[in-house]
Amino acid sequence: MLKLAIIGAGVWGETHAGIFAEHRDAENVAICDRDESRAAAVAKKYGIKEVYTDYREMLKQSGCDAVSIVTPDHLHGDIAVACAEAGKDMLIEKPIATTREDVHRIVDAANKHKVRVMVDLHNRWSPPFAAAKQAIDAGELGEVQSGYFRLNDIKWVATDMLSWSAQSSILWFLGSHSLDTLRWLFNDDVKRVYSVSRAGVLDALSVPAVDTYLTTLEFNNGGIAQMENSWITPNGNPCINDIKCNILGSRGMVAVDASNHNLIQKYTDAKTEVPDVLVRNTVHGRVKGFAYESIRSFVDCLNDGKEFVVSMEDAAKTSLAILSIMESAKQRLPVDVTY
Ligand SMILES: NC(=O)c1ccc[n+]([C@@H]2O[C@H](COP(=O)([O-])OP(=O)(O)OC[C@H]3O[C@@H](n4cnc5c(N)ncnc54)[C@H](O)[C@@H]3O)[C@@H](O)[C@H]2O)c1
Repeated sequence: MLKLAIIGAGVWGETHAGIFAEHRDAENVAICDRDESRAAAVAKKYGIKEVYTDYREMLKQSGCDAVSIVTPDHLHGDIAVACAEAGKDMLIEKPIATTREDVHRIVDAANKHKVRVMVDLHNRWSPPFAAAKQAIDAGELGEVQSGYFRLNDIKWVATDMLSWSAQSSILWFLGSHSLDTLRWLFNDDVKRVYSVSRAGVLDALSVPAVDTYLTTLEFNNGGIAQMENSWITPNGNPCINDIKCNILGSRGMVAVDASNHNLIQKYTDAKTEVPDVLVRNTVHGRVKGFAYESIRSFVDCLNDGKEFVVSMEDAAKTSLAILSIMESAKQRLPVDVTY
């Protein structure tokens, strides 16, 4: 039985608690949040016995084997290094970190203390993207030549859902998913990036953050891709995420439209909803969807001693390439990615 602890009892920390609670080979022994009432509420809902407000105390006291780090994007570094020093394996929410220094600190600490790290870049469990990957790996598309990936959020995510959006970026919050997916589908590393960004809409809504990045990626083996990441799609869109992806090969193409699958539409006099049941839903009391599959996979791989589907190195390269994208947008020049 794998003993797990969670740091960060917010929206997504609760998602981790949900899957640990129903996994037969996992026991959620502790939860920590700076805000005790949040940790206590999740603990009560999922029967977690120990509640902490200081993660260092939790690492000392709880006897956990592994930790989920589910704090805001820019607050993964110190916590992940402390977990490595305490000898704990980790599932870090995406992105692994948001500065070069933190990325290298985490990788060095994990290697030094021989702990295993997975980062929750869960698009690899999304059914349409998994099918695209299988087609590419089976050679159905021939040589992958180019790609387009648009992954945007409605404004509400930056203005209301996240209290820390100004300390993050659409590139961290969603761009990490699109870049990880493109790296995975191209089976290659990004060599050079050229990004153009625009700001102003979120600034006017009192969120000092970039609205949109349009980025061209060049891969080592010659593949090229365009990546669109915006935090300002209209709040009236019933799909919070706007997801479109095309991958073009020498003999074929796959096209994914994951935002408008329309599997279910729900209308009342007050509103329209298009629940994204592929991401997460509950069926007969059990949590389903690819957002849970990635977390379940972390537990399974630790228990079975198998390789993670997303390695620490994958996630580190994704974050380092995003930092190069930000540099490119700032300098208004193409930038070679520094790993
Ligand atoms: N895999 C996905 O697609 C997905 C989806 C949503 C969020 N996330 C990621 O999950 C992480 C958390 O996002 P969220 O939406 O749950 O944020 P949130 O703001 O709802 O929750 C974060 C929690 O962390 C707590 N916290 C901050 N610093 C802490 C510390 N030092 N010690 C203990 N607790 C601390 C906060 O009090 C807060 O309760 C982010 O990295 C985000 O990008 C991933």
